[in-house]
Amino acid sequence: MSQLRNGERIHLVDKKGRQYALTLKAGDQYQLSGHKISHDELIGKPDGSLVTLSGGKTMLALRPTFGEYVLKMPRGAQVLYPKDLALIPMWADVYPGARVFEAGTGSGALTMALLRAVGPRGLVVTYEAREDFARTAMTNIERYMGAAPNLMSFRKNAYEGIDLLDDGVPFDRLVLDLPEPWQVVPHAARVLRSGGVYLSFVPTVPQVQQTVEALERAAVFCMVETFETLLRTWSIQGRSVRPDHRMVAHSGFLTVARKVEAGFWTPAQLSRPTDEAEEIQEAGEDRAS
Ligand SMILES: C[S@@+](CC[C@H](N)C(=O)[O-])C[C@H]1O[C@@H](n2cnc3c(N)ncnc32)[C@H](O)[C@@H]1O
Repeated sequence: MSQLRNGERIHLVDKKGRQYALTLKAGDQYQLSGHKISHDELIGKPDGSLVTLSGGKTMLALRPTFGEYVLKMPRGAQVLYPKDLALIPMWADVYPGARVFEAGTGSGALTMALLRAVGPRGLVVTYEAREDFARTAMTNIERYMGAAPNLMSFRKNAYEGIDLLDDGVPFDRLVLDLPEPWQVVPHAARVLRSGGVYLSFVPTVPQVQQTVEALERAAVFCMVETFETLLRTWSIQGRSVRPDHRMVAHSGFLTVARKVEAGFWTPAQLSRPTDEAEEIQEAGEDRAS
């Protein structure tokens, strides 16, 4: 349905592109720098409508995209940026129907990206150590996605262990955004199925080193890769076409590995550099021929 509904989170967007989030509640009034509009005027309007606040200020009323929602939603813990949220389901190869383990839940941004990727036939099991963060996350998730029957949320410390569900079926994918993923790696080695994918996100180089060392020690992980992404937006105004002056220059490093039968590679061979330049060149030659 494209009409804005009572109870839904929407964004009002001004001419400079700034977004202001509000949750629609019949009878309430929204105020922005002295300009007002009643929620009743917004409820029932088509998504993307132009609306007029008191004093003649015009704004767009929009249902936020997932990336927009995540940046404006209430947070306990720091959320992952949309550029990383977009990559993680791809690099962790989260597919419809997958059973995914996640820790920590934080504000729920990554949980939602995983839920979208596994779809209604999949399952996301998420651990969060802090009760208050978990509560914020569940509110954020419900407000954006409604009830999520394919989500199981636990107040648990992932460093102490990961429990399989009662059916004993291992996880297909395991995704971590917490400070010490190396403490989770031994548990990941136990609960991931063979062929499963491990992915963790950490902001600093020492954290990456400790994570990769733990993956090597576990002996059942291979094809370990670490990378970061830089997203540079551009300003395009007439003949002035250039990169924007500001960007998020650093968020964190993603480390990905496959769980396999031990013994194929020695520990020193587990983190093999992939020669992507060569692969890209080959792909280009294929397209050209
Ligand atoms: C950076 S936040 C995760 C943000 C989340 N990915 C998001 O996008 O909203 C890290 C979270 O991990 C939780 N955490 C830290 N150690 C943990 C542990 N041992 N077990 C479970 N959760 C943990 C923290 O409380 C925090 O909420």
